[in-house]
Amino acid sequence: MPGIIKERLFTPGPTPLLMEAQARTLTAANVHHRTEAFRKIMSETLSLLKYYYDTPNDVLIFASSGTGAMEGSVSNLLSPGERMLVGTAGKFGERWFGIAEAYGIEAVKVESPYGRPVNIEAMKQKLASEGPYRAVFIQATETSTAVMNDVRALGEAVKNYPETALVVDGITGLGTSDLRVNEWGLDILIGGSQKAVMIPPGLAFVSVSEKAWGLIAKSRLPHFYFDFSKERKNQAKGETAYTPATTLVIGLHAALEYIRKIGRENLIANAALLAEAARAAAQALGLKLFAESSPANAATAVCAPAGMDSGAIVKELRTRFGAVIANGQGSMKGQIFRLAHLGYYDMPDLFAFFAALEVSLLKLGHKVELGSSVRAAQDVYLRHAG
Ligand SMILES: Cc1ncc(COP(=O)(O)O)c(C=O)c1O
Repeated sequence: MPGIIKERLFTPGPTPLLMEAQARTLTAANVHHRTEAFRKIMSETLSLLKYYYDTPNDVLIFASSGTGAMEGSVSNLLSPGERMLVGTAGKFGERWFGIAEAYGIEAVKVESPYGRPVNIEAMKQKLASEGPYRAVFIQATETSTAVMNDVRALGEAVKNYPETALVVDGITGLGTSDLRVNEWGLDILIGGSQKAVMIPPGLAFVSVSEKAWGLIAKSRLPHFYFDFSKERKNQAKGETAYTPATTLVIGLHAALEYIRKIGRENLIANAALLAEAARAAAQALGLKLFAESSPANAATAVCAPAGMDSGAIVKELRTRFGAVIANGQGSMKGQIFRLAHLGYYDMPDLFAFFAALEVSLLKLGHKVELGSSVRAAQDVYLRHAG
């Protein structure tokens, strides 16, 4: 066994950190948030976030994980007695129901089986025949199944309902897929720091459209920390209502500068290329992809070979190579494994991952032609890069 095993994250969050961002975070000692210097960083970060989101809408930052912003979207938009419509096809879609229940809100479900995208036509029918709904909720990318949803089609439909907001969980969709906030009518778009922006967990983002602000003004559900209107007023001045996660904001500033330098469209194209290569590589090993259609750019979900628990693959990769991937969640546990390619991943990461996967599968008794998946990934690379 080699003496050195490097830990490498191939998980769909947390993701590998951008060194420049991490370095600035580590050297950001003794920062106080009620100072001109920090207000400047906060204001610049918010305007860089607008670049990242590609929107002139307000974008807010909260010190929380992404789920905090999911909860805030419900509690800032709805009032007692109103209903919400949820499109779900995975564990993160199901989270909306837990939030709705906590607030005593009826959530109407449009559900597709795991591995498929949400049926947008069915959502449109529910909107037309069973409304009104105050808000509609969906994931741009359902990370538990690694499937993308057609939020554009949903956005076009929700635009016809002036009293209904569309809330999109873009926690892994942002920076990995084309999301046109204003053109498609994505009224609230949620992001998280531990994903394609390449910094540690701890920040959530929301963009809020003018239509959503109008509906937020009417909402009567209780909220205190996640008060979007209060944060809007504060963040317009580079302030936050409460103590911000200063070091993470400084890291975010650096990461967004990097993204602006390479171009947000290239960040997305990078994830798309890696995803295509990952799918080709997995299939070259005779493995089945879990996504039946619309596979995500953020991560790839792969079915374990027949008779093999995906947990064994996760463990083998981790102990032998220090490569950390994600098991399936809920009923998918043991059936699939998920490898990520959102944010700070490049082609050599993917080549190395599949070389390690081949050895791991071989050691677990799966028949593997060594080099076959790496070659498939190389072919995809060469086809695109010339
Ligand atoms: C699509 C999606 N939604 C929500 C979440 C929850 O985010 P957090 O764990 O930051 O609360 C995640 C986390 O992986 C996610 O991928």
